[in-house]
Amino acid sequence: MHNAALELLGLEAQYEARDVIPEALKSALEQLVISGAWGCNLSIPHKEAALTQMHHLSPQAQAIGAVNTVLVKNGFFEGHNTDADGFMRSLEEAGVRVGQTSVVVLGAGGAARAVVYGLKHAGAEVLIWNRSSPRAESLAQEFQARAIETSELPASIQNAAGLVNTTSVGLENPDDSPIADDWLPQDWVCDIVYRPLETRLLRVAKAAKRRTIDGLGMLVYQGANAFELWTGQSPDIKVMRQAAMAVLEKL
Ligand code: ATR
Repeated sequence: MHNAALELLGLEAQYEARDVIPEALKSALEQLVISGAWGCNLSIPHKEAALTQMHHLSPQAQAIGAVNTVLVKNGFFEGHNTDADGFMRSLEEAGVRVGQTSVVVLGAGGAARAVVYGLKHAGAEVLIWNRSSPRAESLAQEFQARAIETSELPASIQNAAGLVNTTSVGLENPDDSPIADDWLPQDWVCDIVYRPLETRLLRVAKAAKRRTIDGLGMLVYQGANAFELWTGQSPDIKVMRQAAMAVLEKL
């Protein structure tokens, strides 16, 4: 999706994948400077490890505790996190105004951190449920959210405006859902899983006439935000989305 957007703007640059083992992160980052690269994205397991390698961290990267986008500036590294803004832009695109509504977040892993940060900054009341509750409690404490137990989950969802799945349930088996089919919030359901795009959770929510947001929007917008940091230009979102879809359809 980055190459499609670069080409459309006539920018002579290329986005490439690199397989980097944890021990080689530092030298891979140094290589960016040597090769004159504008920056890079980082994926598991480098997002957290990169925090200590940066000369400057954006407020989001600092609060979320992870770097997904590195910007090389005069030989120095700026660490950013575009996941939270990417997630919020995908909600906005679907017409969701979070405001001061109540939102239930399922999961308390790395992805949940960016989602909870984004929702809290938009003013939402955030309720976090996780399979292992200590993880939900510590995330809730860190972001002034509320951890909920499994016994409270159905009522909490039914009273909430929105629901976000950040767990990996549905990733392996599209027929799995993290919750019972009849536990639905009042207005919208988002599943940040993008493989498959239509998870069971979203299928059920759509049939019950809730607004649904799949994981492609967050994937594309976190990329678009990174693209803006590297190039100073706004990419064509439609072209990025089409390019991402073309790859996802082949997987
Ligand atoms: P990511 O960075 O993608 O969020 P992660 O940090 O490994 O990945 O988090 C995965 C999340 O999915 C966790 O919230 C995990 O719950 P636990 O903390 O209890 O492990 C959740 N998860 C994974 N498999 C699950 C399942 N079968 N049922 C419920 N939650 C599950």
